[in-house]
Amino acid sequence: MATKQDLFLLLSMLSSACALHKQWVPDTNFENATNWDKGSVPCGSDKVIFPTHGKVAVYVEGAHTLSEMFLPVDGEFILASGSGFSIREGQDPSCGAGNTKTFKDPDSKEWFNPALWKAASSLEDLQSGPYIFSVDDEAVPCQHDDVVFRAGSSFRVKLSAHDGSISVKSVSVLGKKFTDNSDFTQYTSSQLGKLQFHGSSAVSVSGSACGDITGCVCGNSGNHDLICSKIMCPPLHCKKPLEPVGHCCYVCGAIVTIHFSKTFRLESYRQRLQYLFLSLSKYKSIHMALSKVSIPQRLMQIIPYGNTQVIQVVLLEENTGSQSEKLAEALARDILKDIADQGPHLGIDSAEFHGSSGASSGDVSGLSGGEVTGIILGILALVAFLALFVVLHRRGMLRVPRLPQLSSWRKGSEIGDLGGPLDHSFDNPMFEKQNPEIPGLYGTESLGGITLTHSGVHFVNPVYDETDFNA
Ligand SMILES: *[C@@H]1O[C@H](CO)[C@@H](O)[C@H](O)[C@H]1NC(C)=O
Repeated sequence: MATKQDLFLLLSMLSSACALHKQWVPDTNFENATNWDKGSVPCGSDKVIFPTHGKVAVYVEGAHTLSEMFLPVDGEFILASGSGFSIREGQDPSCGAGNTKTFKDPDSKEWFNPALWKAASSLEDLQSGPYIFSVDDEAVPCQHDDVVFRAGSSFRVKLSAHDGSISVKSVSVLGKKFTDNSDFTQYTSSQLGKLQFHGSSAVSVSGSACGDITGCVCGNSGNHDLICSKIMCPPLHCKKPLEPVGHCCYVCGAIVTIHFSKTFRLESYRQRLQYLFLSLSKYKSIHMALSKVSIPQRLMQIIPYGNTQVIQVVLLEENTGSQSEKLAEALARDILKDIADQGPHLGIDSAEFHGSSGASSGDVSGLSGGEVTGIILGILALVAFLALFVVLHRRGMLRVPRLPQLSSWRKGSEIGDLGGPLDHSFDNPMFEKQNPEIPGLYGTESLGGITLTHSGVHFVNPVYDETDFNA
């Protein structure tokens, strides 16, 4: 164990400050077969058409012979050295009779499409992996990321953010890295820049990395709907699908939520999990998305009273058959065990997990400041609710068949039965789930204007908003 710790220490010292590299995947290269309507690159007997009003820059890597070529009004070739075009008289025997091949319109490729990016922790890793898995919002470049458009490629990307501006740390285009916004703005207003970046928004380059060792939030939540508009959610087969913050679809797996202190180090912790768990062969099919996210705190799940930042660890299994959450939940338990042992050293105050089988954990450590606030607010809410109850009762708007028992605090896997996934509410004993002993309290009975249904009225205690009470 000692050697493991030593090695881990070494690893954390080697780790650099975090900034992910996100590379735009599509290109508008002449030699990429996917850019042509017939699915193949034009050859000697082919007639080549670039649609007249298409606006595109096209990177050409080699020398091409064609029979005919139509160019757009507004377009540009970027010729690598040794590349070019020549027109051939008659047929090219190696190309056959010849076809008309039209260059596909690249206008619809949007910046906020998570499927069009890949992420890695270094430029080298962008070439061949390992690639970094993340929730959808963070698959698109975050505010402190380095954005890379492959050196030997041309592209056209549509920018349409809600607030008109997309902020990133740097942008590399054709091998040149921009870290200064005025340089980059000048570039994007050039002829070539306008062909590469189009749409209603602009990318602004800040040059600044995340300056917080506990991590930085991605900053894409304002464009979450744009990011998700391209995503089709697959059918799920787990009992209680989970909804990771920043993700477009519900998932089967496990989510560990970590409440951190100011000594927490996000990147070291990522490496710790990588080294201690994900490198084990039993966990090799697990995808982990680890990031700092902002979650709203809500009173009675309705009234927002602020945001809190937590570290979210999403664990998903590669294959999505039935029972696919078992391994993810086992890993979540291992992570919690590690936190129970080492939490204070890692800058972790507390953590809990939820699995899509319905499993969840209790708090593994003391109460954080946020939880104390939650408890106080919870008590206030309870008092307010009781007062409302008494008032309604006095006015005869609410009838109570008999005094409810105060013994029905729901625990463990029962939590959420009424509220669906990630609903850690407990039932208010005043509105006990339908019970043969108390006929009529539920059902469709109308109580002076208030109808209480099985799932309609339940009180959420913020005390249990973040923590299940399993102890
Ligand atoms: C060709 O373009 C497709 C989609 O735009 C991309 O996924 C692929 O990586 C490109 N191929 C090469 C060889 O760059």
